Amino acid sequence: MYWNSRQVTEKRTLPFAASTRDTARAALGVAAGKVERLAEQHPDYFPLYTHEGRWKHGKESWTNWCEGFLGGQMWLFHELGLGDQWRARAEHYSVLVEQRQHDRDVHDLGFVLCPTWQKWAELDGGTEQKKVVVQGGRTMALRLNDQGGFLRSFLAPDSNFIDIMMNIGIIALAALETGDDNLMAIARRHCDTTRKYLVRGDGSVSHEGIYDLGTGEFLRQTTQQGWRNDSSWARGLAWSLYGFTSMYALTGDTHLLRTAIANADYWIEHTQADPVPPNDFDEPHPTRPWESSAAACAAGGLIMLAALVEDDTLAQRYHRHAETTVRRLCEPLFLGIDPAWEGVLKHGSYHERKGLGVDESVMWGDYFFVETLARVVRG
Ligand code: GLY
Repeated sequence: MYWNSRQVTEKRTLPFAASTRDTARAALGVAAGKVERLAEQHPDYFPLYTHEGRWKHGKESWTNWCEGFLGGQMWLFHELGLGDQWRARAEHYSVLVEQRQHDRDVHDLGFVLCPTWQKWAELDGGTEQKKVVVQGGRTMALRLNDQGGFLRSFLAPDSNFIDIMMNIGIIALAALETGDDNLMAIARRHCDTTRKYLVRGDGSVSHEGIYDLGTGEFLRQTTQQGWRNDSSWARGLAWSLYGFTSMYALTGDTHLLRTAIANADYWIEHTQADPVPPNDFDEPHPTRPWESSAAACAAGGLIMLAALVEDDTLAQRYHRHAETTVRRLCEPLFLGIDPAWEGVLKHGSYHERKGLGVDESVMWGDYFFVETLARVVRG
């Protein structure tokens, strides 16, 4: 989600095979049909995950972080020319989340406001839209634990989530828009702290870090959604890979690029047999073989990284793996072609430990799948 505001020039644009682009175009048609149906059947409703393939159910959310992903898909459908209806819908679903710019309860304002208001700002060059993003960045920056040098997660003041790497970009965007160096310093501190304590030597990541609230000292790695505290939760790695790549693009800091490369190399080494990983790379006998939303996000991160790295061989490797992943996710096993299934991408999982949205469609999985497909068809 570095959008158009990158500080680093892309080194290359690598082509996708014509057959992959055709497959992606067809999958985008399926996705647009699913979102159309959801918007018509349940107007102004923001689901998180399906239950037995249906979006509307009364199950627990844990936290409210997915409200930008519907509007985000609509903006992409509009940008790709998939129908005249999408522009007004995208604006409407963006307006529905406008007040989240002041939301201090979640660490997810990048997820909420970048696919919607940042995208809108970039398509229209609108200053009013940019103000929403800037305020969202300022609100996020209030989460800083100054002693520990990290933004606290929604869960507790001593907790830093790897997921925040996907949201820290909104602070960088606000800093670039306003020239506020303090905002940029906060964003970079969070990245440095996360690199130091949550990213491991082999390129895998911990989901969560816990800090001493008195001193700011880092205490331990933990997890909420992975298998164990010392294991590698697949979506967390995808968040890190995509997030560090975005932050490199927004800052030009090569430390962040090196971290993204370490994440990408771990990802590729561990997804050779199947580009779609299970929920956790380390779980000896995963109960379910796939967590497709992680693959959708990682593929988008790999496409961005392939455009940014200096080394052509590395770039080819990332690009090829992303293409293989896209083709896999477009297979009937993963693409919700069946009209009875309301989501786009099947076999995602939200929270295995809590039993929420397990082996279902998940709203961020659908968004990052559509975003990645859009990257493929744009070429
Ligand atoms: N906590 C956000 C996620 O499920 O990835």
